[in-house]
Amino acid sequence: TAGLNTLAKAAGKLYFGSATDNPELSDSAYVKILSNAKEFGQITPGNSMKWDATEPTRGTFTFTNGDVIANLAKTNGQLLRGHNCVWHNQLPSWVSSGSFTAADLTTVIQNHCSTVVGHYKGQVYSWDVVNEPFNDDGTWRSDVFYNTLNTTYVSIALQAARAADPNAKLYINDYNIENSGAKATAMLNLVKQLIADGVPIDGVGFQCHFIVGSVPTSFQTVLEQFTALGLEVAITELDIRMTLPETDALLAQQAKDYQSVVQACMNVEKCVGITIWDYTDKYSWVPSTFSGQGAACPWDSNLAIKPAYNGIVAAL
Ligand code: XIL
Repeated sequence: TAGLNTLAKAAGKLYFGSATDNPELSDSAYVKILSNAKEFGQITPGNSMKWDATEPTRGTFTFTNGDVIANLAKTNGQLLRGHNCVWHNQLPSWVSSGSFTAADLTTVIQNHCSTVVGHYKGQVYSWDVVNEPFNDDGTWRSDVFYNTLNTTYVSIALQAARAADPNAKLYINDYNIENSGAKATAMLNLVKQLIADGVPIDGVGFQCHFIVGSVPTSFQTVLEQFTALGLEVAITELDIRMTLPETDALLAQQAKDYQSVVQACMNVEKCVGITIWDYTDKYSWVPSTFSGQGAACPWDSNLAIKPAYNGIVAAL
Protein backbone atom coordinates (compact mmCIF):
# COMPACT_ATOMS: atom_id res chain seq x y z
CA THR A 1 0.00 0.00 0.00
CA ALA A 2 0.90 3.66 0.00
CA GLY A 3 1.72 3.52 3.71
CA LEU A 4 -0.34 4.47 6.75
CA ASN A 5 1.00 8.02 7.06
CA THR A 6 0.63 8.73 3.35
CA LEU A 7 -2.97 7.54 3.49
CA ALA A 8 -3.75 9.45 6.69
CA LYS A 9 -2.34 12.69 5.27
CA ALA A 10 -4.21 12.26 1.99
CA ALA A 11 -7.37 11.99 4.09
CA GLY A 12 -6.63 15.26 5.86
CA LYS A 13 -4.88 14.10 9.05
CA LEU A 14 -1.57 15.55 10.22
CA TYR A 15 0.10 12.19 10.82
CA PHE A 16 -0.06 8.48 11.46
CA GLY A 17 2.66 7.64 13.99
CA SER A 18 4.21 5.15 16.36
CA ALA A 19 5.81 5.12 19.77
CA THR A 20 9.35 3.85 19.99
CA ASP A 21 11.99 3.37 22.67
CA ASN A 22 15.76 3.63 22.84
CA PRO A 23 16.68 -0.06 23.39
CA GLU A 24 14.88 -1.05 20.16
CA LEU A 25 16.94 1.29 18.05
CA SER A 26 19.80 -1.22 17.85
CA ASP A 27 17.47 -3.44 15.75
CA SER A 28 18.14 -2.22 12.22
CA ALA A 29 15.20 -4.05 10.62
CA TYR A 30 12.92 -2.43 13.21
CA VAL A 31 14.40 1.02 12.65
CA LYS A 32 14.04 0.72 8.89
CA ILE A 33 10.25 0.38 9.12
CA LEU A 34 9.94 2.95 11.92
CA SER A 35 11.88 5.47 9.84
CA ASN A 36 9.77 5.00 6.72
CA ALA A 37 7.83 8.26 6.63
CA LYS A 38 5.29 6.69 4.29
CA GLU A 39 4.21 4.49 7.20
CA PHE A 40 4.95 6.82 10.12
CA GLY A 41 4.94 10.60 10.01
CA GLN A 42 5.27 10.99 13.76
CA ILE A 43 7.05 9.27 16.65
CA THR A 44 6.66 9.39 20.44
CA PRO A 45 9.35 8.35 22.92
CA GLY A 46 7.83 5.54 24.99
CA ASN A 47 9.97 6.28 28.05
CA SER A 48 12.88 8.60 27.51
CA MET A 49 11.20 11.97 28.12
CA LYS A 50 9.48 10.88 31.34
CA TRP A 51 10.40 12.46 34.68
CA ASP A 52 12.54 9.55 35.93
CA ALA A 53 14.53 9.69 32.69
CA THR A 54 14.93 13.46 32.46
CA GLU A 55 15.32 14.68 36.06
CA PRO A 56 16.41 11.68 38.17
CA THR A 57 17.75 13.95 40.88
CA ARG A 58 16.43 17.39 41.63
CA GLY A 59 17.77 20.01 39.26
CA THR A 60 19.96 17.57 37.28
CA PHE A 61 18.60 16.98 33.80
CA THR A 62 19.59 14.24 31.34
CA PHE A 63 18.37 14.44 27.77
CA THR A 64 20.67 11.92 26.10
CA ASN A 65 18.03 9.28 25.32
CA GLY A 66 15.29 11.78 24.59
CA ASP A 67 17.59 13.56 22.17
CA VAL A 68 18.19 10.31 20.29
CA ILE A 69 14.45 10.01 19.60
CA ALA A 70 14.09 13.73 18.78
CA ASN A 71 17.02 13.53 16.36
CA LEU A 72 15.60 10.39 14.75
CA ALA A 73 12.33 12.24 14.10
CA LYS A 74 14.27 15.14 12.59
CA THR A 75 16.36 12.86 10.37
CA ASN A 76 13.25 11.00 9.20
CA GLY A 77 11.19 14.15 8.64
CA GLN A 78 8.70 13.03 11.29
CA LEU A 79 6.69 15.04 13.80
CA LEU A 80 7.48 14.46 17.46
CA ARG A 81 5.04 14.13 20.36
CA GLY A 82 6.55 14.91 23.75
CA HIS A 83 5.58 12.42 26.47
CA ASN A 84 5.23 13.50 29.27
CA CYS A 85 5.78 16.24 31.86
CA VAL A 86 3.63 15.42 34.91
CA TRP A 87 2.45 11.86 35.66
CA HIS A 88 2.02 9.76 38.79
CA ASN A 89 4.10 6.91 37.30
CA GLN A 90 7.82 6.66 36.50
CA LEU A 91 8.53 9.46 38.91
CA PRO A 92 11.90 9.54 40.65
CA SER A 93 11.50 8.90 44.37
CA TRP A 94 12.64 12.42 45.24
CA VAL A 95 9.33 13.54 43.73
CA SER A 96 6.98 10.66 44.55
CA SER A 97 8.01 10.36 48.17
CA GLY A 98 9.18 13.88 48.78
CA SER A 99 7.37 15.98 51.33
CA PHE A 100 6.82 19.34 49.76
CA THR A 101 5.05 22.50 50.74
CA ALA A 102 2.65 23.71 48.08
CA ALA A 103 5.07 26.49 47.16
CA ASP A 104 8.01 24.10 46.91
CA LEU A 105 6.19 21.58 44.70
CA THR A 106 4.96 24.43 42.50
CA THR A 107 8.58 25.41 41.90
CA VAL A 108 9.53 21.77 41.24
CA ILE A 109 6.78 21.36 38.62
CA GLN A 110 7.55 24.70 36.98
CA ASN A 111 11.25 23.94 36.79
CA HIS A 112 10.69 20.43 35.43
CA CYS A 113 8.14 21.43 32.79
CA SER A 114 9.94 24.54 31.63
CA THR A 115 13.33 22.82 31.42
CA VAL A 116 12.11 19.72 29.57
CA VAL A 117 9.72 21.52 27.23
CA GLY A 118 12.28 24.29 26.74
CA HIS A 119 15.00 21.79 25.83
CA TYR A 120 12.88 20.52 22.93
CA LYS A 121 11.52 23.93 21.95
CA GLY A 122 10.76 24.07 18.24
CA GLN A 123 11.05 20.28 17.84
CA VAL A 124 7.76 19.07 19.29
CA TYR A 125 4.35 19.17 17.66
CA SER A 126 2.47 18.39 20.87
CA TRP A 127 3.27 17.67 24.51
CA ASP A 128 1.37 15.43 26.91
CA VAL A 129 1.84 17.96 29.68
CA VAL A 130 -0.36 16.13 32.16
CA ASN A 131 -0.82 12.37 31.90
CA GLU A 132 -3.54 10.29 33.59
CA PRO A 133 -4.93 12.75 36.18
CA PHE A 134 -8.07 10.70 36.90
CA ASN A 135 -9.06 7.42 38.46
CA ASP A 136 -11.49 5.25 36.48
CA ASP A 137 -14.45 6.52 38.56
CA GLY A 138 -13.67 10.11 37.54
CA THR A 139 -12.20 11.16 40.88
CA TRP A 140 -8.77 12.73 40.95
CA ARG A 141 -5.86 10.38 41.30
CA SER A 142 -4.32 10.62 44.72
CA ASP A 143 -0.67 11.34 43.94
CA VAL A 144 1.92 13.78 45.25
CA PHE A 145 0.68 16.46 42.86
CA TYR A 146 -3.00 16.32 43.77
CA ASN A 147 -2.34 15.67 47.44
CA THR A 148 -0.10 18.73 47.71
CA LEU A 149 -1.64 21.17 45.24
CA ASN A 150 -5.17 19.89 44.65
CA THR A 151 -6.19 20.42 41.01
CA THR A 152 -4.00 23.51 40.59
CA TYR A 153 -0.99 21.42 39.52
CA VAL A 154 -2.60 21.06 36.08
CA SER A 155 -2.61 24.78 35.34
CA ILE A 156 0.83 25.21 36.90
CA ALA A 157 2.24 22.62 34.47
CA LEU A 158 0.35 23.92 31.43
CA GLN A 159 1.41 27.51 32.03
CA ALA A 160 5.06 26.53 32.44
CA ALA A 161 4.92 24.46 29.24
CA ARG A 162 3.31 27.28 27.26
CA ALA A 163 5.97 29.75 28.37
CA ALA A 164 8.75 27.29 27.47
CA ASP A 165 7.53 26.53 23.94
CA PRO A 166 4.69 28.77 22.77
CA ASN A 167 4.30 26.82 19.50
CA ALA A 168 3.84 23.35 21.00
CA LYS A 169 0.27 22.08 21.30
CA LEU A 170 -0.42 21.32 24.95
CA TYR A 171 -2.38 18.18 25.77
CA ILE A 172 -3.85 16.33 28.70
CA ASN A 173 -3.70 12.59 28.00
CA ASP A 174 -5.59 9.71 29.64
CA TYR A 175 -7.07 6.23 29.18
CA ASN A 176 -10.61 4.92 29.71
CA ILE A 177 -11.99 8.27 28.57
CA GLU A 178 -12.83 6.81 25.14
CA ASN A 179 -16.36 5.80 26.13
CA SER A 180 -19.01 8.02 27.69
CA GLY A 181 -18.97 7.71 31.45
CA ALA A 182 -17.69 9.19 34.67
CA LYS A 183 -14.05 9.44 33.60
CA ALA A 184 -14.80 11.08 30.22
CA THR A 185 -17.13 13.49 32.01
CA ALA A 186 -14.43 14.35 34.55
CA MET A 187 -12.01 15.14 31.71
CA LEU A 188 -14.65 17.24 29.91
CA ASN A 189 -15.33 19.20 33.07
CA LEU A 190 -11.62 19.74 33.67
CA VAL A 191 -10.93 21.13 30.21
CA LYS A 192 -14.07 23.30 30.33
CA GLN A 193 -12.82 24.81 33.58
CA LEU A 194 -9.32 25.35 32.17
CA ILE A 195 -10.76 27.12 29.13
CA ALA A 196 -13.00 29.26 31.35
CA ASP A 197 -9.99 30.18 33.48
CA GLY A 198 -7.86 31.11 30.46
CA VAL A 199 -5.35 28.32 31.10
CA PRO A 200 -3.49 27.22 27.94
CA ILE A 201 -4.87 23.88 26.69
CA ASP A 202 -4.94 22.81 23.04
CA GLY A 203 -5.86 19.17 23.00
CA VAL A 204 -6.90 15.98 24.72
CA GLY A 205 -5.11 12.71 24.03
CA PHE A 206 -7.01 9.42 24.08
CA GLN A 207 -4.57 6.61 24.84
CA CYS A 208 -6.78 3.83 23.39
CA HIS A 209 -5.25 0.74 25.02
CA PHE A 210 -8.06 -1.58 24.02
CA ILE A 211 -9.03 -5.27 24.11
CA VAL A 212 -10.02 -7.27 21.01
CA GLY A 213 -13.79 -7.62 20.82
CA SER A 214 -14.53 -4.81 23.25
CA VAL A 215 -13.48 -1.51 21.72
CA PRO A 216 -15.61 1.45 22.83
CA THR A 217 -18.86 2.14 21.01
CA SER A 218 -19.26 5.83 21.86
CA PHE A 219 -15.72 6.91 20.95
CA GLN A 220 -16.68 9.22 18.07
CA THR A 221 -19.36 10.87 20.21
CA VAL A 222 -16.86 11.49 22.99
CA LEU A 223 -14.28 12.90 20.55
CA GLU A 224 -16.94 15.29 19.26
CA GLN A 225 -17.78 16.45 22.79
CA PHE A 226 -14.18 17.59 23.16
CA THR A 227 -13.79 19.15 19.71
CA ALA A 228 -17.04 21.06 20.35
CA LEU A 229 -15.09 22.96 23.02
CA GLY A 230 -12.62 24.15 20.36
CA LEU A 231 -9.93 21.62 21.27
CA GLU A 232 -8.13 19.21 19.00
CA VAL A 233 -8.02 15.54 19.90
CA ALA A 234 -5.69 12.68 19.00
CA ILE A 235 -5.35 8.94 19.45
CA THR A 236 -2.04 8.81 21.30
CA GLU A 237 -1.23 5.22 22.34
CA LEU A 238 -3.38 2.81 20.34
CA ASP A 239 -3.01 -0.93 20.75
CA ILE A 240 -5.63 -3.70 20.87
CA ARG A 241 -4.56 -6.71 22.90
CA MET A 242 -5.90 -10.25 23.09
CA THR A 243 -5.60 -13.19 25.43
CA LEU A 244 -2.88 -15.42 23.97
CA PRO A 245 -2.51 -17.58 22.00
CA GLU A 246 -3.53 -15.62 18.94
CA THR A 247 -5.94 -17.33 16.54
CA ASP A 248 -7.11 -16.47 13.04
CA ALA A 249 -10.48 -15.50 14.50
CA LEU A 250 -8.91 -13.15 17.06
CA LEU A 251 -6.67 -11.58 14.40
CA ALA A 252 -9.71 -11.04 12.16
CA GLN A 253 -11.65 -9.42 14.99
CA GLN A 254 -8.59 -7.30 15.81
CA ALA A 255 -8.56 -6.02 12.21
CA LYS A 256 -12.21 -4.94 12.55
CA ASP A 257 -11.46 -3.31 15.88
CA TYR A 258 -8.50 -1.32 14.52
CA GLN A 259 -10.68 -0.23 11.62
CA SER A 260 -13.50 1.02 13.84
CA VAL A 261 -11.20 2.90 16.22
CA VAL A 262 -9.29 4.60 13.40
CA GLN A 263 -12.59 5.33 11.63
CA ALA A 264 -13.82 7.29 14.66
CA CYS A 265 -10.82 9.62 14.35
CA MET A 266 -11.25 9.87 10.58
CA ASN A 267 -14.88 10.95 11.10
CA VAL A 268 -13.89 13.85 13.36
CA GLU A 269 -12.19 16.71 11.55
CA LYS A 270 -10.27 17.95 14.57
CA CYS A 271 -8.92 14.52 15.42
CA VAL A 272 -5.44 15.41 14.14
CA GLY A 273 -3.64 12.07 14.15
CA ILE A 274 -3.25 8.53 15.33
CA THR A 275 -0.27 7.05 17.19
CA ILE A 276 0.13 3.33 17.85
CA TRP A 277 2.01 2.35 21.03
CA ASP A 278 4.79 0.81 19.02
CA TYR A 279 4.07 -0.82 15.71
CA THR A 280 5.28 -4.36 16.37
CA ASP A 281 4.47 -7.13 18.82
CA LYS A 282 8.22 -7.57 19.14
CA TYR A 283 8.48 -4.46 21.33
CA SER A 284 4.96 -3.93 22.67
CA TRP A 285 4.59 -3.08 26.37
CA VAL A 286 1.50 -5.31 26.60
CA PRO A 287 2.88 -8.80 27.46
CA SER A 288 4.97 -7.53 30.34
CA THR A 289 2.11 -5.47 31.76
CA PHE A 290 -0.99 -7.63 31.18
CA SER A 291 -0.25 -11.22 32.07
CA GLY A 292 -1.26 -13.71 29.36
CA GLN A 293 -2.10 -10.98 26.84
CA GLY A 294 -0.32 -9.66 23.79
CA ALA A 295 -0.31 -9.59 19.97
CA ALA A 296 -1.69 -6.05 20.26
CA CYS A 297 0.08 -4.32 17.36
CA PRO A 298 -0.44 -4.19 13.57
CA TRP A 299 2.95 -5.79 12.84
CA ASP A 300 3.83 -9.21 14.29
CA SER A 301 6.99 -10.09 16.18
CA ASN A 302 8.76 -10.90 12.89
CA LEU A 303 7.96 -7.37 11.64
CA ALA A 304 5.39 -8.67 9.13
CA ILE A 305 2.06 -6.91 8.78
CA LYS A 306 -1.01 -8.55 10.33
CA PRO A 307 -4.70 -8.34 9.34
CA ALA A 308 -4.87 -5.36 11.74
CA TYR A 309 -2.74 -3.37 9.29
CA ASN A 310 -5.34 -3.87 6.57
CA GLY A 311 -8.06 -2.90 9.05
CA ILE A 312 -6.32 0.43 9.55
CA VAL A 313 -5.88 0.90 5.79
CA ALA A 314 -9.60 0.27 5.31
CA ALA A 315 -10.39 3.22 7.59
CA LEU A 316 -7.84 5.68 6.19
C1 XIL B 1 4.73 2.38 29.12
C2 XIL B 1 5.97 2.00 28.31
O1 XIL B 1 5.58 1.61 27.01
C3 XIL B 1 6.71 0.89 29.01
O2 XIL B 1 7.93 0.59 28.34
C4 XIL B 1 7.00 1.28 30.45
O3 XIL B 1 7.60 0.19 31.13
C5 XIL B 1 5.73 1.68 31.17
O4 XIL B 1 5.09 2.72 30.44
N1 XIL B 1 0.27 4.87 29.39
C6 XIL B 1 1.24 5.79 29.13
C7 XIL B 1 2.59 5.33 28.68
O5 XIL B 1 0.96 6.99 29.15
O6 XIL B 1 3.61 6.19 29.14
C8 XIL B 1 2.87 3.92 29.12
O7 XIL B 1 4.10 3.50 28.52
C9 XIL B 1 1.74 3.00 28.73
C10 XIL B 1 0.45 3.43 29.40
